[in-house]
Amino acid sequence: MSTAEKIQPMTMAEQADRHLLYQASVQNPDFELDFIDKTFKKLRGRKPRTMREDFAGTAISSCQWVKRRRTNKAVAVDIDAEVLDWSRRYNVAKLTIEQQQRIELLLDDVLNVETPRVDVLQAYNFSYWFFQERTTMLEYFKRTREALVDDGLLFLDVFGGSECYQTQKEKRKVDGFKYVWEQAEFNAITNELKCHIHFHFPDKSKLKKAFSYTWRVWGARELREILAEAGFSESIVYRQKFDPKTDEALDEYIATDEAEDYACWLGYIVAKP
Ligand SMILES: C[S@@+](CC[C@H](N)C(=O)[O-])C[C@H]1O[C@@H](n2cnc3c(N)ncnc32)[C@H](O)[C@@H]1O
Repeated sequence: MSTAEKIQPMTMAEQADRHLLYQASVQNPDFELDFIDKTFKKLRGRKPRTMREDFAGTAISSCQWVKRRRTNKAVAVDIDAEVLDWSRRYNVAKLTIEQQQRIELLLDDVLNVETPRVDVLQAYNFSYWFFQERTTMLEYFKRTREALVDDGLLFLDVFGGSECYQTQKEKRKVDGFKYVWEQAEFNAITNELKCHIHFHFPDKSKLKKAFSYTWRVWGARELREILAEAGFSESIVYRQKFDPKTDEALDEYIATDEAEDYACWLGYIVAKP
C-alpha cells in the first residue's frame, strides 16, 4: 500500500454508525409514545406504567418511556446481542442510574420470551412481519395477549396500499445524510417483500444495505382476524389522515375502517385482550 493510500481520509460512510442513522431517520419514539399514552388513556381511562418493546433494536422507545414518568418501567426484547450491546453503550448509558433501574434489556426470541404482564406491548416498524406463516403469527399474538394485564393494550404498526406490492426506491433528506428505502423484490404469490435501507452522504459515499428485511406483506383485515383468533376481544385500526386538498399524509391517526385506494397509508392496530 502506498503512503498516499494509507493517509486517505475515511469516507463519511466508513465513519458512520448505522444504528445512529437508523434512529435519526426511521424512528420517532416521542410521537409513538404520545400516541400510546393518548390512546391508552382514551380506551382504558388511566395512564399506562409498564411497557414491553418487542423487536426492540436499540431500545430507544423503552429508554424514552422510563424518562417520561418516574412510575414507568420497560422491558425491551431483541434476538440480536449486537444491537442490545449497542443500546447499553449508547442509549441506556445516557439514562440516570434511577432510570436505568427501571429498564431491562432481554436477549430473547419474542416467540419464547417470558416477561411479567405489562400494560402496553408494542411491536413497531413492521418487525412482526418477519413472521411469514399464519400459524407463527397466531402463536405470536397469543403470546402477546398472555403478556398483557387484563386492561392492557397491544400496539402494532401496519401499512397498506398498492405501493406495498411493488418494487420501488424512496429517498428522503435527513440532517447530514440521505435515507433510502428500497423495496428490492416482491413475490406476488407469497407476498414476500425484500427491503433494504441504504444511507447516502454528502461526500458521495454510501452505506449500502445497512439494514435488510424480508417481510410478508400482511393486510390489516387478516391481521385483525388472527388477533381475534388469538383471543383479543377487539382491535381498532388507526389510519393516517391525508390532507383533502393536497393528498399529503398528516401526522394524525384516526380510528376508522374506511380507506380509499391510497397508494400508501400508515397506521396502527390497537388490540384489547
Ligand atoms: C427493524 S428492527 C426494529 C427496531 C424498532 N422496533 C423500530 O421500531 O424501529 C427489527 C429488530 O427485530 C429483531 N428481531 C427479529 N426477529 C426477532 C425475534 N424473533 N425475536 C426478537 N427480536 C427479533 C432484530 O434483531 C432487529 O433488531
